[in-house]
Amino acid sequence: MHLVWRNIFSFFLFCHICLAVVKDNFKECEQSSFCRRLRNLKPGDSKYVLNLNNLHVSENSVETELWNSEENVKFKLVLTALAGDMFRVYADEVSPIYPRYRVQGVLNGEPQVERLDVLKRDKDEVIVQSGDNKAVLKSEPFKIEFYKASNLVAVVNGRGLFDIEHLRTKKSETEGEENSLQKEDAGAWEENFKSHHDSKPRGPEGVSLDIHFPGALRIYGLPEHADKLALRTTGLGGVEPYRLYNLDVFEYIVDSTMALYGAVPVVFAHSTTNTVGAFWLNAAETWVDIKNSKDQNVVSSLVNLVSGQASESSVDAHFMSESGVVDLFILMGPKPKDCAKQYTKLTGVAPLPQYYTLAYHQCRWNYITEDDVTTVVKNFDDYNMPVDTMWLDIEYTDGKKYFTWDPIKFAHPDQMLKNLSSTGRNLVVIIDPHVKREGGYFLHEEALANDYYVKTKDGNVYEGWCWPGSSSYPDFFNPTVFNYYKGLYSKLKYENVDSDVMIWNDMNEPSVFNGPEITMPKDCLHYGGWEHRHLHNIYGIVYTAITYEGLLARNPNKRPFVLTRAHFAGSQRFAAVWTGDNNADWKHLAASFPMCLSEALAGISFCGADVGGFFNNPEPELLQRWYQAGIWLPFFRAHAHIDTRRREPYLFAEDIRNRIRTSLRLRYAHLPLWYTVFYEHERFGEPVIRPLFYEYPNDSEVIDIDNQVLVADSVLVHLISEPGATTANVYLPGGRSTYWYDIRDFRKREGNGFTSVPVNLDSIPVFYKGGSIISRKNRPRRASTLMHKDPYSLYVALDNNKSAKGTLYIDDNESFEYKKQKYLYLQFEFKNNELSSSLIDNTDYESVEWIERVVILGAPTEVSKAVITSKTLGSVDLETHYEGDALIIRKPGVCVREAFVIKLV
Ligand code: NOJ
Repeated sequence: MHLVWRNIFSFFLFCHICLAVVKDNFKECEQSSFCRRLRNLKPGDSKYVLNLNNLHVSENSVETELWNSEENVKFKLVLTALAGDMFRVYADEVSPIYPRYRVQGVLNGEPQVERLDVLKRDKDEVIVQSGDNKAVLKSEPFKIEFYKASNLVAVVNGRGLFDIEHLRTKKSETEGEENSLQKEDAGAWEENFKSHHDSKPRGPEGVSLDIHFPGALRIYGLPEHADKLALRTTGLGGVEPYRLYNLDVFEYIVDSTMALYGAVPVVFAHSTTNTVGAFWLNAAETWVDIKNSKDQNVVSSLVNLVSGQASESSVDAHFMSESGVVDLFILMGPKPKDCAKQYTKLTGVAPLPQYYTLAYHQCRWNYITEDDVTTVVKNFDDYNMPVDTMWLDIEYTDGKKYFTWDPIKFAHPDQMLKNLSSTGRNLVVIIDPHVKREGGYFLHEEALANDYYVKTKDGNVYEGWCWPGSSSYPDFFNPTVFNYYKGLYSKLKYENVDSDVMIWNDMNEPSVFNGPEITMPKDCLHYGGWEHRHLHNIYGIVYTAITYEGLLARNPNKRPFVLTRAHFAGSQRFAAVWTGDNNADWKHLAASFPMCLSEALAGISFCGADVGGFFNNPEPELLQRWYQAGIWLPFFRAHAHIDTRRREPYLFAEDIRNRIRTSLRLRYAHLPLWYTVFYEHERFGEPVIRPLFYEYPNDSEVIDIDNQVLVADSVLVHLISEPGATTANVYLPGGRSTYWYDIRDFRKREGNGFTSVPVNLDSIPVFYKGGSIISRKNRPRRASTLMHKDPYSLYVALDNNKSAKGTLYIDDNESFEYKKQKYLYLQFEFKNNELSSSLIDNTDYESVEWIERVVILGAPTEVSKAVITSKTLGSVDLETHYEGDALIIRKPGVCVREAFVIKLV
C-alpha cells in the first residue's frame, strides 16, 4: 500500500510540476454514458405530451400531467409564478420506484410566489399570466413559451430535447442492464476508471431539457470555465459541451469548456433589446450544449443575404444531467440588471465582508515557520508596501491533520497571531475536508467512532488519497456531522487577540488523488442513502456553509471570511472564490477577467485569481501587469506553488517594486469604493464587477468584450495581457455624451467605442465615468485596518451636464452592528456648481473621518474659490486650484457624518 501511495503522490506532484492538464484524466461527453445518450437525442417533435384536460390551478401555479407517449410513463409538471418576474418549472415522476434527488440548501429559502392568472385554457394550450409575463403551455408537442409583454423570449423544449429517463426497474433487476451499459461504455478511459467506478446504479436516470432563446445574440454564464465570457457554440469543431462537475484539475488549460472546481448552472441569454436567464437547479454531473445561430447559420445567412431575408439570431442551451428532477427557473429580465437581481433573489448575495478582506492578501505554499510569517510582514513594512493578511497553506499543520499546528514550526500560533494583529494584520489558514486516517488523530478517531464518514457502496468507510496520504471524508450531508464539524472551528479561537483566524477551504470538490477523475466515486453513499453522483456538485458548498456557520458560532460579532475553491449556485452566501491553480503565463492573466466576470454574473462577486499565477515563476513584466489588473478584481491575493521561487513584491528590483507598490496603494485608495459596492451588492443584489454588456445592454459592440471590467458602473478597467504593450485598444462605451476620465492624468475622453490609449509599464488604462463621485482614502498606510479614521478625498467626475452622483457606505468595518442601523449611507451630488451630501437612510454611525480634498474632473473654468456650509462649520471659504483640467478644493474639513454644501464661486 505504501508503494501505491508513493506512486500516486509522486504522480500528483509531478502533475503539479509538469504544467499541462492531463486531459485524459477527465471525461469527454462520449465517455460518459448519460451524456452520450442525452446528447444523442434528436431535435424534432417531443415524445412528451401535456395532458391539459387535467389541469390543477392554484393562485400561484398550474399543475398537470406530462406523459412520455413512447414509453407510457407519467410525470407531473408544475409551473409556478415567482415574485420578481420569474417562473419555476418543476417535473418529476408520478410514481417513481426510487425517489429522485432534490437539491437542498442551495436556494436562499423557499422562493416567494406570485399571483398567476389563467387567460386561456383548452386541451391544446393553456396561457397563464403573471404581471407582464406570460407562459404558454402547449400540449403536443410539449413546449412552454415565455413572453415578456408580447415578446417571445424563451421556449422550454423548443427543440424537443426534454427527457426524464424513467427508473423502470428495481436495483436487483437492473444489474444486467447496467452491466451491458458498462460494457457499451468500455473504452480506454472507462477501463481506467472501472476499478473505482464498479457501481450498480439504479438504471439510467438522466434529465435533459433544451431552452430556445429567440432573438438572443449571446449567452453567458455556467461558471466555472477558463473560457471567454460569451459562451461558444459547442459541437462545432469538436468543442465539447460545457461540463459542470466540480473537479481538481491541475494546471488547467484556458479557452476550454472542461470542468473546473466550481459549477453554477445558470445562463443569461442576451440581445440589445432583451435579456433572459435560466437556472437549472441540479447537483449531479451536468453538461450543457450551446448553439448560437451566428455560428450555425453561416451558410443559411449567406442564402438569406442573397434572398434578402434577415435571419433572426437565437441561442439554444441544452442541459443534460445524470440524475435528479427537472427544476428550472426562468428569469424574465428584461435587462441584465433585472436578471442578476432575480438570480440573487433566488440564491442569495454575499454578506458584507470585513473591510480588511478587500485589501491585499499575501499567500504562498508555504510560509514555513512563524518567523517566516513575521519576517515577510516586516519586509512589507520596511519597503512601505501595504498588506493586510498573511495566509498559511497545508504545511502549517501537524502532518496534514487539520485543526492542529506543526509542533515545531508553528508551536505558538497565539503569539504569531498576536504579532500579526499588533500591526493590524490578519491570518487565514487552510482547512481541507479530507481527514488523515491516523490513529490518535482526534478527528479521525471521533469520526470513526461516531460513524461520520462517507461510505463505499458496500457500506464500508470510504478511503481515498489526498495530501495526508490515506484519508476519509466526513459526510457533511449528515446534520450531526455538520454540527460536529462546525464546532471544530472553536479550536481556532485565541483569547486576547484582536483578530480571528479566518479560513481557506480547499480540495472540497472533493479532491481524491486516486479517485475517478481525481474525485470521489459516484457510488459512494451519503446520509439518507443518496449516492455521491446525485449531489457531487454541492459537496463543496455544504462544506463552506459549515465553515461560515462555525466561524459565526465562534464569534457572533465578527463577519466570517471564508475562501473556497469548490463552489455551486449560492456559494456567495458563505465564501469568496478564487479561480484555483492557474499558471504564471499571459493567457492565464487574460483568463482572470472573464472567469471572475462570469462568476459575478452568476452571483459570486467575491472572486479573484492567484496574482502572479500559481504554477511557475512569472517574468517581472507579467508579475507587474498581474498586480495592476488584480487590484481591480474583488478578491486580491498573491499565491504561489511550493516549487516556485519566492516572489513577495519587495524582492524585486526597485523599478518593479515601485510599480507594484503603486498598484497596491491604488487598491488601498479605492477600498471605500469596494466596500460601498459590496454593501450595495448585499442590499440590491447587483454584481460588484460587471462586464460592459451589463451596463450598456443596447450596445451590440460590447457583447464579446471581456478584457474590461466595470467596478459597479463607475470605474472602467482595461486588462493588458500581452508583453511589450505600448497601446491598448480600449472600448469606451456610452456614446459621445458619456465622458471617461483617465485616472492617471484626468484627461477626458468620450465614449466613442474603441479608442487607442497609449500605455507604458507603469499602469494599465483605468477610467472614472463622468457622472460618478468616487470616494478614496489616499494616505498610504501599512494595512487597511490602520486607515479607519483616515480622511476621504472625493473624486467628482462630471458628466456632460456638469453633474455627478455617488454613494459612500461607512460602518465599523467588522461587526454586525450595521444590521442594527449603525452605519452611514451617504449620497453625494454635484449640480449647478454645488457639491452636497445627504444621508440616504435615517441611520447613524459615529464616524470621525473628515473630507480632506475634493477633486473635480471636467470642472468649470475660472473658479476662484469654494465656500462650504455646514451646521458645525457655518460658512467657510476654501482654497481652490487647478491641476491640469482638475479643480482641487483643499481641506473642506467637514466630518463625513455631517450634511454639507460646497459651492464653487
Ligand atoms: C491546491 C490549491 O488550489 C492551491 O492553492 C494550494 O496551494 C494547494 N492545494 C496546497 O494546499
